Amino acid sequence: APATKVDLEILATPHPLGDAERAQRMQNPGFGRVFTEHMVVIPYAADRGWLRGQLRPYAPITLDPAAMVLHYGQAIFEGFKAYRQPDGRIKTFRPEANARRFNSSARRLAMPEMPVDLFVGAVDALIRQDRAWVPSPVGESLYVRPLMFATEVALGVRASRDYDFLVIASPAGAYFPQGVKPVTVWISEDFVRAAPGGTGAAKFAGNYAASLLAQMNAAAEGCAQVVWLDAVQRSVVEEMGGMNIFFVYEERGRPVIVTPELTGTLLPGITRDSIIQLARDFGYAAEERRVTFDEWRAAVREGRMTEAFACGTAAVITPIGAVKSREGTFSIHDNETGPVAARFRDALLDIQHGLAPDRHGWMHDV
Ligand code: PLP
Ligand code: COI
Repeated sequence: APATKVDLEILATPHPLGDAERAQRMQNPGFGRVFTEHMVVIPYAADRGWLRGQLRPYAPITLDPAAMVLHYGQAIFEGFKAYRQPDGRIKTFRPEANARRFNSSARRLAMPEMPVDLFVGAVDALIRQDRAWVPSPVGESLYVRPLMFATEVALGVRASRDYDFLVIASPAGAYFPQGVKPVTVWISEDFVRAAPGGTGAAKFAGNYAASLLAQMNAAAEGCAQVVWLDAVQRSVVEEMGGMNIFFVYEERGRPVIVTPELTGTLLPGITRDSIIQLARDFGYAAEERRVTFDEWRAAVREGRMTEAFACGTAAVITPIGAVKSREGTFSIHDNETGPVAARFRDALLDIQHGLAPDRHGWMHDV
């Protein structure tokens, strides 16, 4: 798809930091600690719709203490990445899918939807301005973070009339400090992430706030991540921290890829959707269905399940090497990265970095 033009007031200066300082900040960027030199801000007003926005230097914003987001929490976000191609051009991965998910989050939180072209065009404008910040090595990228929050000054409990949409960007290396080594996960039996009818399918800030205590418990158990079970039966596996989960079964020597079905309580990941498509390209069976924790444990014990991994934009694919719960710990694939997880990871990275053909039209020219 061609790049979209969006009318923004340009208050940008070419490279405020200079090449040496930028290069220094891009060394081992980790995840989400270093930001580029500019940002996009587009206001929305109930009576006027989306207003003309600005592309301007990255800087703190001012917010009235009575801004509704600080009280009643209307805040949503997205995350996807821009990749340097072998010829030096820059492409993003499935940005329209993020735009659609942003709008579905907006609907759930009673916030205004945004034209897909405006969302994608605003991100493109920022990436073009800060293109020097897009790293080249495979596995590195520029993570873009569009977000929207309520700005109306009012304490009545109702949907805000005014909002700001922002885009910021951050050069990204490995999400987990240990790189792509398998993680040990903690099964959360005390806390749930989302309940039927709740906000689990939205990329809503409050979902992440509500997950932090469980994540701290997981860390106290020596685990890198928490795995969520369904709120009602506390038995069906939903997702892992901020990533979707896949199970690899083996039937008659062939991988069968299974991922929890979208019940409204988990985030419909774009990496998840892409892996289902890639699995079919590889000739694997792919199923979206319920998997209980009991089934997970039994399938590993009986050798029917050979791998498990999590997937998301930030970390791409993270193998699950061991699973810990109150009943004990079991490991998967000897706590090593399995061949199926590795194959998906390589296939995705190759498409994203322009090293393999983009058969599904996933890449967007910035
Ligand atoms: N699940 C949650 C709760 C997330 O925050 C994310 C990250 O965006 C994902 C899953 C994976 O989604 P995606 O593949 O679109 O990054
Ligand atoms: C992901 O991209 O997988 C995420 O979960 C993003 C996270 C930083 C919220």
